[in-house]
Amino acid sequence: MFYPFEMERYLETLLGERDPLLREMEEQALKETIPVVTPMVGNFLNLLVHMGKSQSILEIGTAIGYSTIWLGRAAEQTGGHVTTIDMNKDRRARAVIYFERAGLQNCITALEGDARKILPTLDSAFDFVFIDAAKGEYLDYLSLIYPLIAPEGVLVVDNVLFRGWVVPGTAFAPKYDRMVGRLRLFLQDLCQNPDFSTTVLPFGDGVSVSRRLRV
Ligand SMILES: C[S@@+](CC[C@H](N)C(=O)[O-])C[C@H]1O[C@@H](n2cnc3c(N)ncnc32)[C@H](O)[C@@H]1O
Repeated sequence: MFYPFEMERYLETLLGERDPLLREMEEQALKETIPVVTPMVGNFLNLLVHMGKSQSILEIGTAIGYSTIWLGRAAEQTGGHVTTIDMNKDRRARAVIYFERAGLQNCITALEGDARKILPTLDSAFDFVFIDAAKGEYLDYLSLIYPLIAPEGVLVVDNVLFRGWVVPGTAFAPKYDRMVGRLRLFLQDLCQNPDFSTTVLPFGDGVSVSRRLRV
């Protein structure tokens, strides 16, 4: 977190009561240090899907399905469907149980495998894509989702400022050099891409929001 923890806590209180299942998942993720989106980011995803009346939603990085449930709850209202991908078999299996408990099993398809292999096999045009998998692979996902995003489609990417370290001049351990370098390249690539209109929001761990322009 690169802004005061108190601010995140305060903003969270403004979200109001979350349902018990989301709270249970937050606690589980914290206990096992599974990195899931913050409730603020989950709520933001839900809001964007509602606002765009998105129908065909793709998520890269399911983990135990926390962000997927925020997306799925909105999809249920828009009449949309979420396809989510994760390469971790155990996490995917746990996510599927959560989807059933949330009553969202008909709104969500959970695919298991490496997104870099699965994406080229998909032929849908997605109107909402959320990327939240391996930070060092974001550039790869970007080129693979490029043909899959419909004109006017929305692309949201989490952790783009990664603890604030992506901002030049900040100090971090050398073992993160490569990942931070790749995230900088990713942001540069995305923000300069003439086919997308992009903004970067410094909340959560840094979230980029792009609109695919008509070409
Ligand atoms: C940050 S977690 C996802 C959190 C989830 N979006 C949430 O907020 O609830 C990242 C997930 O991406 C998955 N992952 C990493 N690289 C992947 C790849 N190449 N293909 C598919 N999944 C991948 C990991 O197994 C992990 O569960």
